[in-house]
Amino acid sequence: MAKTYNIAALGGDGTGPEVLVEGIKVLNAVAPKFDVKFEFTDFDFGGERYMRTGEVLPPNAADELGKFDSIYLGAIGHPDVKPGILEKGILLKLRFDLDQYINLRPVKLYPGVETPLKDKGPEQIDYVVIRENTGDLYTGTGGFTLKGTPNEIAIQSAVYNRFQVDRCLKYAYEYTKKRNKRNTLALCGKTNVLTYVYDLWERAFNEMGEKEYADIRRDYYHVDATCMWMVKNPEWFDVIVTGNMFGDIITDLGAITQGGMGIAAGGNINPEGVSMFEPIGGSAPKYTGLNVINPIASIAAGQMMMETLGEYEMAKKIEEAIMTVVSTKMKSMSAGKMGYSTTEVGDLVAEAAAS
Ligand code: IPM
Ligand code: MN
Repeated sequence: MAKTYNIAALGGDGTGPEVLVEGIKVLNAVAPKFDVKFEFTDFDFGGERYMRTGEVLPPNAADELGKFDSIYLGAIGHPDVKPGILEKGILLKLRFDLDQYINLRPVKLYPGVETPLKDKGPEQIDYVVIRENTGDLYTGTGGFTLKGTPNEIAIQSAVYNRFQVDRCLKYAYEYTKKRNKRNTLALCGKTNVLTYVYDLWERAFNEMGEKEYADIRRDYYHVDATCMWMVKNPEWFDVIVTGNMFGDIITDLGAITQGGMGIAAGGNINPEGVSMFEPIGGSAPKYTGLNVINPIASIAAGQMMMETLGEYEMAKKIEEAIMTVVSTKMKSMSAGKMGYSTTEVGDLVAEAAAS
């Protein structure tokens, strides 16, 4: 009997629902080959629901979503809602409530995809960023005093405890070992200025590496230097591990080197629980409903979901289909310039994946 996966489908805002439909199309197309079935359950969380009901998320949302095998997300962010409300109230809230403490973001350039990096190709641009996903400036620790006065003070603190750092490093070391490419894990920090938080990270990084992962080479880069080398010598990197804020920033840089937001995917992973997969590009509201947005990132998020669920062969098949379509069919990764519509790109990948 076919194995059934129950997936929560959160289309969200803007072009989110459009790209998610294409991801679902590809999963459904490839499933029979691997004797798997998908049951998708839609949730309408996002800006429209918020404006209609005044509620960002129902109080039991995380409990409900926690019952699924996985969560497949389109995008969160609505032009008519003040920035921060939906992002914090939905995306970050789910990451925190479901304790998805890893944000896994591969930076991989596929053949035929254009990169802004001169003289660099798929050989050089192939690494993974592991972004810690529950701590740092994202905890919301801080506040205002004397707000609205000339002496106003605003504080927002980077917060980490040893447990959070250790569990993220453990995942990163294990991932590097399993990936078995260059067996190199780089810590991206700022030990010259953030002398508490990244001191903790660096000590934990070295202690764990020395004790448990003698075969993994350890590198360290300050975050500013990391940005420089990601552009100049991306081939140096195998796996990068970093805190939440730096991880957010460097993965946008990484994304543009692999062809942009149309292709970059990420996984919010709770290795012991329920994970959530998303294209990292956001809701791109100006393209909503035009059938021009690139669904590849969403399809790649589906591929990551299969990998995380242990469906390695299916994930591989989807990746091969993506590679075929981006390298032999699509003219560009940018919205409106693909040479195909959103639905056509979905059809092409689905067809290649099912073959
Ligand atoms: C991301 C996004 C989010 C983040 C925003 C939308 C809250 O930029 O997933 O990278 O900062 O984590
Ligand atoms: Mn981001």
